[in-house]
Amino acid sequence: MGQRLGADTARIEPFGLEVRFDLSRGLTPDDGAALKDLFYRHKLLLFRDQNLTRDQQFGVLEHIGPVDRASPLDYVTPDDDVLGTRHLAFHSDMHFAPFPAEGVSLLALDVEADATYTAFVDAAAAYRRLPAELARRIDGLRSVRAATPGVYEDELPYDLPEGMHSMQRDAVMIHPVTQEPIVYVARCSTSRLVGLDREESTALLHNLYDTIYDEAHMLKHWWRDGDLLIWDNLALQHARPSIEGVTRRKLQRVTIATHEQSSQIPASYVSPVDVDSWQVKEDAK
Ligand SMILES: [Fe+2]
Repeated sequence: MGQRLGADTARIEPFGLEVRFDLSRGLTPDDGAALKDLFYRHKLLLFRDQNLTRDQQFGVLEHIGPVDRASPLDYVTPDDDVLGTRHLAFHSDMHFAPFPAEGVSLLALDVEADATYTAFVDAAAAYRRLPAELARRIDGLRSVRAATPGVYEDELPYDLPEGMHSMQRDAVMIHPVTQEPIVYVARCSTSRLVGLDREESTALLHNLYDTIYDEAHMLKHWWRDGDLLIWDNLALQHARPSIEGVTRRKLQRVTIATHEQSSQIPASYVSPVDVDSWQVKEDAK
């Protein structure tokens, strides 16, 4: 383990940085500043072999930004009653809220080694990969986002089912800290681009999804005990395959959020564990 946070690091491909440092010993102000700087530069940080209480994890994350102590999800487990064992398609947490969390961290407390992964894509890098003409087309466009449980592999329909909570937001988000443009649309939760007809909207979204979800630029992190991942929840989207049949997968979750997350959950939100009953209800209409 390095003496100073940031002194011993290794790049992760295709993006992210592994930082070798024992976070349990506490961070000096310089360590904290280095953590914040590395977080915004690399967007995803991996610390291995960590042993942190939840309070210690709050303390680490507070060097980057305000933490959300009233988060709706403290531990991710196969029986957490919020996400369950569901496959979760690419999303950024609380993408349907006015102010999604700026950062998310997960610490593997007890997992089957290398049995499950979380996948990541960088939607700021995706913006930079867009042909200039395509980038120009989406700058200034608004998109319709729905509060889906994030379990749909297929894209949302142009016309949303009645009663589904939705909001409009810019298709390109300017990152509040780095000022980078981010393609802030997701296949599982964006239904359409405002002002475009069905054909135009669908074609343009497909173009964007091809760029964002290009496997050549995707990171898969296979979990082991003690792994702490901290990522930029605005620039990156994450996903996971179903964890059905996995018995040990306990991840301690702390978010960086200027605005409390739980108070932004719409009343019509349906959790992934309840999605089957919700779909039946919608089909019955
Ligand atoms: Fe998530």
